[in-house]
Amino acid sequence: MIKINIKNVNKDDLLDKSGYYIFCLKKDKKLPDTGDNIIFSKFKSLNVVYVGITDDSLASRVLKKHIYGNGGNSTLRKSIGSMLGLTKVPRSGAEKIKRDKGKSFKTKFNDDGESIVSEWIESNLIIFFDYDENPLNIEDKLIQDYNPPLNIDKNNNIINYNFRRKLSHPNRKLTSLRSVKKNLSKPFVKWAGGKYKLADKLIPFFPSEFDDNKNTYYEPMVGSGGFFFKFNPRNAYLSDINKKLVITYNVIKNDITGLIDQLKIHEELHDKDYFYKSRIKFNELIKSYKNELEISSLFIYLNKTCFNGLYRENSKGEFNVPLGSYNNPLICDEKTLFMLNNVLKNVQINCHGYKESLEKITKGDFIYLDPPYIPLKKDSFTKYSKKDWKEEQSRELNQYCKSLDEKGAFFMLSNSDTNLTRDIFNDKNRNFYPIEAPRFISAKGNSREKANEVIITNY
Ligand SMILES: C[S@@+](CC[C@H](N)C(=O)[O-])C[C@H]1O[C@@H](n2cnc3c(N)ncnc32)[C@H](O)[C@@H]1O
Repeated sequence: MIKINIKNVNKDDLLDKSGYYIFCLKKDKKLPDTGDNIIFSKFKSLNVVYVGITDDSLASRVLKKHIYGNGGNSTLRKSIGSMLGLTKVPRSGAEKIKRDKGKSFKTKFNDDGESIVSEWIESNLIIFFDYDENPLNIEDKLIQDYNPPLNIDKNNNIINYNFRRKLSHPNRKLTSLRSVKKNLSKPFVKWAGGKYKLADKLIPFFPSEFDDNKNTYYEPMVGSGGFFFKFNPRNAYLSDINKKLVITYNVIKNDITGLIDQLKIHEELHDKDYFYKSRIKFNELIKSYKNELEISSLFIYLNKTCFNGLYRENSKGEFNVPLGSYNNPLICDEKTLFMLNNVLKNVQINCHGYKESLEKITKGDFIYLDPPYIPLKKDSFTKYSKKDWKEEQSRELNQYCKSLDEKGAFFMLSNSDTNLTRDIFNDKNRNFYPIEAPRFISAKGNSREKANEVIITNY
């Protein structure tokens, strides 16, 4: 790549050609101090702050927009100006832009402010760039590889998430942050207490010090992985006590084509009779756990077609949920399965109780705990396997949380917001953040009310 020192940049250094670029901090330079602990990726040993592409002209994109443009048309400039605390003014013509509900006027900085941003860029940044005929193919990879802290909208990485949100919505409350990560993978089964729909509300509570390059994300009661799949940390260890679920994760990881072939057969043969025959077969197979491919394809098939997508076992450990009433259930969601196969490539997934993960966890790791909840009502769902989860189990979980405190690991725990929850998990270093959550699976299929939940953290 070609390197340019911005201080002496001249228009002929960059041509009117398409390409891509990486802005780095010069050696020993820092971003304006905002009190945030920003984690940088490196390019040629320098801290990367921003990346971009243009399918038009590098000269006009880099020079006219970023280096000598205005905060209204360059996210790089907008971020730097915000960090420097510069005053924003409406962009010319912006008064005419219709103000819709959540959106505010488009802004830039006043003339003095824009000069300050340009000077700051000249003194502190350096650019690397290269020409490329098809830069659109590179953009996502650049952002993924370098996780630039100033690429606000297009960056989905959990690292520096809070910082980027702060830059883009300085006045918003954490819990109303808009959703990111729209295009990533989603769970392969419905699961009681699944967190996929709630994940955007949970992400602002991530510990900003957690670095998934160095440390590991643990989810020891992963269920359908609603939270994990949405945010996809680089290093992860997943586990759950439900063996059929864990087998299915591993088949998705290791035998995706075999699984898809079988799901297509279930999809073709699906009717009431086939459902009940499959349920008997599944319960036979899980006596010996010999045929993992068949167990996993039946596990997904039954989940997609059973009542409310609930996984429930009787006292003999048999799956006993009846057929649901779906007109045309999507049994083989090939696209999602291939995406998950990719996401799971470097992830370990094992079947064991949550306590067993403790010995692996070290300082700086981040653990998301999503246990069966302390019941709001008598009929709340807590029975994910033949063993139920009672108050005593929540108290044991609190002991586990204390061990995490001692290790210097960060944990975030979800639960129902009851007096008992706050009593059990109360400790001096704990924070309780109430959130409102839609409840998707309840004992009565059609009662989908909002429930009050609480996020508990030790940071
Ligand atoms: C509320 S669900 C988790 C939902 C998950 N966050 C999701 O998005 O689907 C609770 C999970 O805890 C698991 N579980 C229950 N007891 C456990 C234990 N002792 N050790 C590990 N996992 C357990 C259940 O199998 C279930 O998958």
